[in-house]
Amino acid sequence: MTRPIELRVEHLREPRTIPDRHPRFSWRCAEPAVAYELEVLSLSGQVLATSGPVASPECALVEVPGFRAESDTDYAWRVRVWVADADTPGPWAVSRFSTGLFDAADWSAAWVAAPDSATEVERWTMLDWIMGRRPESPPEQRMRAVRILRQSFLVASPITRARLHATSEGVYQARLNDAPVGDEVLAPGFDSYLSRISAQSYDVTQLLREGENRLEVALADGWWAGRIGLTGSSAQFGATTRAIWQLHLDHPDGSRTVVASGGDVMTSRGGWDYADLFVGERFDARRAVGDEGWRQAIVSTGGTDRIRPQRGEPVRRIRELPVVASTPTERGTVYDFGQVIAGRVRLRMRGAGAGDEVRIEHTETLDAAGAWFVNIDGINKEQTDVYVASGAPEEEWEPSFTFHGFRYARISGLRAGATIELTAVVIASDLAYTGELELSDARLDRLHRNVVWSQRGNFLSIPTDCPQRERAGWTGDLQAFIPAACSNAAVVPFVTRWLENLRADQLPDGRIPIMSPYSPFDAESAAAAPGGVASIVACAGWSDAIATVPWTLYERFGDVRVLEENREAIERWIGYQEHTAAGPQFGDWLAPSTLEGEGSLHEKIGIAPALTAEFIVPMFRVRTRDLAARIAAVLGDAEGERRHRARAAELRAAFAAEYLLTDGRLDTALQGPVVLALAFDMVPPERVPGAVAQLVELVEARGRRLDTGFLSLPYLLDVLYDHGHADLARALLWQSESPSWLAQVDAGATTIWENWSAIAPDGTPSTVSLNHYAFGAVDDVLYRRVLGIRPASPGYREALVEPDLEVGLTRARGRVDTPRGPIVVAWRREGDRAGIEVELPVGATGMLRAGGEEFALAAGVSVHEVALG
Ligand code: BGC
Repeated sequence: MTRPIELRVEHLREPRTIPDRHPRFSWRCAEPAVAYELEVLSLSGQVLATSGPVASPECALVEVPGFRAESDTDYAWRVRVWVADADTPGPWAVSRFSTGLFDAADWSAAWVAAPDSATEVERWTMLDWIMGRRPESPPEQRMRAVRILRQSFLVASPITRARLHATSEGVYQARLNDAPVGDEVLAPGFDSYLSRISAQSYDVTQLLREGENRLEVALADGWWAGRIGLTGSSAQFGATTRAIWQLHLDHPDGSRTVVASGGDVMTSRGGWDYADLFVGERFDARRAVGDEGWRQAIVSTGGTDRIRPQRGEPVRRIRELPVVASTPTERGTVYDFGQVIAGRVRLRMRGAGAGDEVRIEHTETLDAAGAWFVNIDGINKEQTDVYVASGAPEEEWEPSFTFHGFRYARISGLRAGATIELTAVVIASDLAYTGELELSDARLDRLHRNVVWSQRGNFLSIPTDCPQRERAGWTGDLQAFIPAACSNAAVVPFVTRWLENLRADQLPDGRIPIMSPYSPFDAESAAAAPGGVASIVACAGWSDAIATVPWTLYERFGDVRVLEENREAIERWIGYQEHTAAGPQFGDWLAPSTLEGEGSLHEKIGIAPALTAEFIVPMFRVRTRDLAARIAAVLGDAEGERRHRARAAELRAAFAAEYLLTDGRLDTALQGPVVLALAFDMVPPERVPGAVAQLVELVEARGRRLDTGFLSLPYLLDVLYDHGHADLARALLWQSESPSWLAQVDAGATTIWENWSAIAPDGTPSTVSLNHYAFGAVDDVLYRRVLGIRPASPGYREALVEPDLEVGLTRARGRVDTPRGPIVVAWRREGDRAGIEVELPVGATGMLRAGGEEFALAAGVSVHEVALG
């Protein structure tokens, strides 16, 4: 008798919203099952749909035939299984889920806006940026205040259930009868708003009372109207913020009352002078909501067809960090939280006087001498919050509508005698970080933790490049990092929501933009550029995220629907490239040696593109064709598979003819093109030894240090491992001279840096990001090669466990969560013997390769010992 556990709908436990009307159900079992039965029920227990007994051991992403979810409904669901030889099923396991509003027709509400809520439009292109033409006006002049939208309503009869569905153009926080609604922050998150916008659904049953009730929605510029992205321009989606909501009140007699935003909504201001994601927030605690009086909101209808139920986890406060050190300086006290994060500072003060202005500045690093230093060039330099004290004996404040990338905060403006306590509040999309990795070497262990921190800091509503500067959804960065992201966390809902945005951003001609959300202004900025990297709309490696990202999700989580959803977009991107010449490229972005010469960073970042683009473009075309062929095969399209394979073969032959020297070498002095040529099978087998020899020479010539950019670094160590140079892979991993991962760790990094000289060996910082996950792609190598857990079939139904017992560690322990349950590996080396303990979940099989031996693995724990050398 076994009862299923870990019940999930669309990868999530008891979700409050699901992406569409046809959810998939998953569970896990402690014993192998041979059949299941799955039912969806109303909360009153009526069976709405059933699978009937199904003779299958499947337990991941199973659909119930005939079930079509209704909007705004709570469902129960249950599953039971039969284990081998049992005539009767085990007991039911029960869970639940709810739905938001699926269709435009579900929205009867109107959008509401404050009459004066238009933000000043200040835009500047990449060209202005490069030429130094940026506005320097003070934030007060550039910002619009947060607006409060208020609706009062009467609840005349008892309520059994109340759900608030809400979203905004801007970011909002709702309060019902003065209590915060939900624990989300920065709702509705960042979307390609002109095509789709996520709506949240909150259970507010407990916040209502009979009689008079008051709903208040505070609305700030956010990603819609505030300063965002590569250029830091404002109003990239619209200049006016507005919100829309619908409160559904269910009564005991089965009737429903709908309170919808509309003509009765009043607006005023609260304590905020301004709030902006980049600039920061200024809050005057002396002012109360409505001090300035109330005006009627402006109402507009339509535009609800792009509202979608929230997919995946919202952004929340996920952690708090205390101060680890503080240093008084002339311009304020500098507090160190010991960790580079994305988030904000919460203050608690005693003894401040009314009107005291407490300033909180943020930065990721100090300079070599320990003095304040802002590691941001150009846009988004401010990162400053201001709190104007009320003068109450004790005051507590945390900004609501902004976040910063920082480790240090500098506080000024506190009067003598007042005391202050600070807490750093980490905010992020609230994903389950299910991966674990513990290595016997403290530095490699720190490297792994640094990568996880960079993932947390950049998986914030969308996958970003960095949380302190651009915060843009750069496709190339995720393309490089997605395997590591999958090892660390349950990323499918978060990433599939972003892919939905990416598809919405695909241009009519098939181009996949270099970032998503891609605003109309991003397109204008690229069009205004005279050429070069500032003019790129789509390019190799970045746009190919449309194939790499879905494929990796499928490989790691076995989710076929991800492939179905993205297939057409992949085909269109492939189609575009067939008949259009490749434009400017980022190439093997930030390849280290190209940044080491004289000159400004702005000049030097063009070198890697210039040296690598000609190789990168054809190689990624082949890579994406290969993935398209595999995707076609998974989806049962034999003709599509054949077509892509045939074209990939032609493209390979053309590449070999044009770029491969007779001995298999490429005409390059950089590691990256050779790494990719080997990783993407661009080299005919007989010429592989020549390419490998070239790579080895290049790595040796660099003193066994890195010279790979964003696109090639993820493959470097794998290529060396796979071609008989495990020693060199290990040397790169252990290298402590810069550029190397451990040089960063030795320099005190707590996250992964944008480039290897973000902080020079002498401690001098530069104005680049300290929190960029792309070069953290190595984390996946730590999971797959060092710990040794690899998927041998989609979703790790079959696992290959092949630890590197020679890597130089005495111990490694970790786990990767898979659809059927975690795979856990722990190995220990003593002299020339090694012990390996492996645990596979029910429903998985595997193979352990160690010490030249192979062991078949079954579900459960097994212990193995091998002799080495
Ligand atoms: C970003 C990246 C991005 C790149 C494009 C940078 O400014 O921070 O990480 O992929 O531009 O080349």
